Amino acid sequence: MAKYIVENSGPLRGEVIISGSKNAVLPILAASILAGDACEISDVPNLLDVDVMCKLLRSLGASVEEDYENEIVNVDTKDITTWEAPRDLVTRMRASILVMGPILARQGKVKVSLPGGCSIGLRPIDLHLKGFQSMGAEIEKGPDYVVARADKLKGAKVYLDFPSVGATENIMMAATLAEGVTVIENAAEEPEIVDLANFLNKMGAKVKGAGTNMIRIEGVPALKGTRHAVIPDRIEAGTFMVAAAITRGDLLLKNVVPDHVKSISAKLMECGAVVEDNEDGLRVRGDVNPLIATDIRTLPYPGFPTDMQSQFMALLTTVEGTSMVVETVFENRYMHIGELNRMGADIKIDGRSAVIVGQRPLMGAPVIATDLRAGAALVLAGFRAEGETEISEIYHIERGYSSFEKKLISIGAKIRRVED
Ligand code: UD1
Repeated sequence: MAKYIVENSGPLRGEVIISGSKNAVLPILAASILAGDACEISDVPNLLDVDVMCKLLRSLGASVEEDYENEIVNVDTKDITTWEAPRDLVTRMRASILVMGPILARQGKVKVSLPGGCSIGLRPIDLHLKGFQSMGAEIEKGPDYVVARADKLKGAKVYLDFPSVGATENIMMAATLAEGVTVIENAAEEPEIVDLANFLNKMGAKVKGAGTNMIRIEGVPALKGTRHAVIPDRIEAGTFMVAAAITRGDLLLKNVVPDHVKSISAKLMECGAVVEDNEDGLRVRGDVNPLIATDIRTLPYPGFPTDMQSQFMALLTTVEGTSMVVETVFENRYMHIGELNRMGADIKIDGRSAVIVGQRPLMGAPVIATDLRAGAALVLAGFRAEGETEISEIYHIERGYSSFEKKLISIGAKIRRVED
């Protein structure tokens, strides 16, 4: 298995082009099932998770061409006849659950195993199932799978107890082919939901209100193929923004929507970093002011993203003062803390809160990437640590960052990927 060896790198400087969004392309690929036709998706990042979703579509009978050189995936879903998502693929990636709504809407039934992915809490799918049930589906739960059946889904009012991203997407996709109008209340408002709605509307769906907490979907009899370019990845952008700050460097990020990273920019500026949105891109400087502590609470969008919590925590170990982080979205997203502490950080956990003592001298150590964003946090900490940081299980990082070490090396980082 591959590892990263990271060394103290000094200030990172230069330009980085941000890739298409992982969390936008995955539901968009799943939604192509609804078209029963050919779709061309561009600005697709080269990621393990995208490849798993393509394999999943192929296993259902779709033809899929992945051209990562040109960042394009062509998918034709006309020959899909299967209603069962294979266990080995679904358990590899939690986002596989996103095929559930589209298969149910198109085939009238669907069977999926219970999904895998990052080990960051229970991550149940009750809200997805509640949505399908409200739309008339019968749900049968097995020990490690779930089946949903509905000859024809019917429009319904669905209230989500929590604005779950995946449940909003799954219900929105299923509702496009339902009879009548579906309204999702307390819907997630993430930019990836808006991108999915735009893709669905280009296919002929009638989705309104995406990006607000109430989404209205008027069902249509059929959808058709289309072309779509995926939005930039706001979490990849955020990770490089923190890379500029933690190394006290100066980075210009291209292909970023500044509005999508507002909460990240705001927190970096509270710490004393300079974030400028100019014509060339988003410039982040950690070399202007001394950086200081701040407090963070993760929240659904437009709040501070849980997917940036661990990277920020790495930064907060290096600034002046003591910070507090509260994780409210996932109940078990602190696995990186043990690893950061092994590198010399001083972070204490009390329930969902973590207290981070700043200005800790970090030292290289063998550490494990316990999940995707935790892995990114360890790479960032490694840039500040004395000596070598050896990060194992980096397949987690490769699930979500396109050409990560290449992009980092191009801005002066000392990182190499070695096969064990
Ligand atoms: C998506 C993102 C992930 C991000 C997360 C929160 C993708 C592919 N992944 O994951 O990177 O960290 O949003 O921004 O887009 N929940 C329930 N019942 C459900 C569904 C969710 O209780 O049926 C809970 C989860 O356990 C979790 C919280 O809701 O505590 C948020 O989950 P959700 O928004 O659904 O995240 P994902 O869509 O899985």
